Amino acid sequence: MICTVNRDSDTLYYDTARNRLCLIDQTRLPGEFVTLSLHTVEEIEEAIRLLRIRGAPALGVAVAIGLAVLANEMHPYDSALLREYAKRILNTRPTAVNLRWAAERMLEHAESQKALQDEALRVWQEDIDTCRRIGEQGSALLRDGDSVLTHCNAGRLAAVRYGTALAPIYVAAEQGKRVHVFVDETRPLLQGARLTAYELVQAGIPVTLMCDNMAASLLANHRIRAVLVGADRIARNGDTANKVGSLGLAVIAKRVSVPFYVCAPFSTVDFDCQNGRDIPIEMRDGSEITELWYQKRMTPRNISVYNPAFDVIPADLISAFVTERGIIKPQDLSS
Ligand code: MRU
Repeated sequence: MICTVNRDSDTLYYDTARNRLCLIDQTRLPGEFVTLSLHTVEEIEEAIRLLRIRGAPALGVAVAIGLAVLANEMHPYDSALLREYAKRILNTRPTAVNLRWAAERMLEHAESQKALQDEALRVWQEDIDTCRRIGEQGSALLRDGDSVLTHCNAGRLAAVRYGTALAPIYVAAEQGKRVHVFVDETRPLLQGARLTAYELVQAGIPVTLMCDNMAASLLANHRIRAVLVGADRIARNGDTANKVGSLGLAVIAKRVSVPFYVCAPFSTVDFDCQNGRDIPIEMRDGSEITELWYQKRMTPRNISVYNPAFDVIPADLISAFVTERGIIKPQDLSS
């Protein structure tokens, strides 16, 4: 399979010549642009757990390439060991279903190292094609001069090349439409401030940053065409887990009649989850809230901290899903 990798801008890729999973270390952005080349299970687990690579589609691609790399490092190849590695990697982050989706897909091709490598390259290329189609579908919802609100980072850095929620913005820009993006910081890990702001500035897209608690005021007082977010897991009834804070935005958007769109590939739909209550929510370390971004700790010692990484948007707050297969109402998702 021939894949045209853009090593200067793709978030992650398979360096088949060196057998490495290559990725931009997102914990270093926006200050430093550092790429990592990984080839051990410990490195891959660490990169996912620490969010060096993050965003549901990118995580799926990382698992696919990671497993192919690990298989190719085995002499002789041992498919039972590969299954153990897959289990270890799946334990790193529980909410994004794309990890499981990619691991299951790869293990169906575990008969040889060559089959795994080919499949990983297919998963990578499909992510580019799928996100591009999401962008084309979503750009039809946008007009020149519109403003939109997004949350967290569901852009290029959350996938291989286009992202999901920001793909419509990139395609609209290619079509000559100028769309202004508002993004909130996205506490506690600042994916909005560090990553979305960074990639949109790099792309020359107008972007305004605000704190998370300013979204209600923005939506109530400014003309915002739509809220566009990504998804980590979509249950079959349309309930959707995404970065914590998405639920609040959906409630506010409904109150002020601004459409709320979830942009995601079908690989993010988990047909085994009947509804949002079945979606496991990752809980993260409290230090992300109490001290991570401060020069000194800002809270009393021993304070108990509530730090879920995701929340669930009930399907009735979602105007539609923007997918590679078209724009789909929540009630039509599983038909
Ligand atoms: O914790 P993160 O940074 O992996 O969370 C990312 C999100 O919540 C994204 O919105 C989601 O994965 C979709 S990315 C296209």
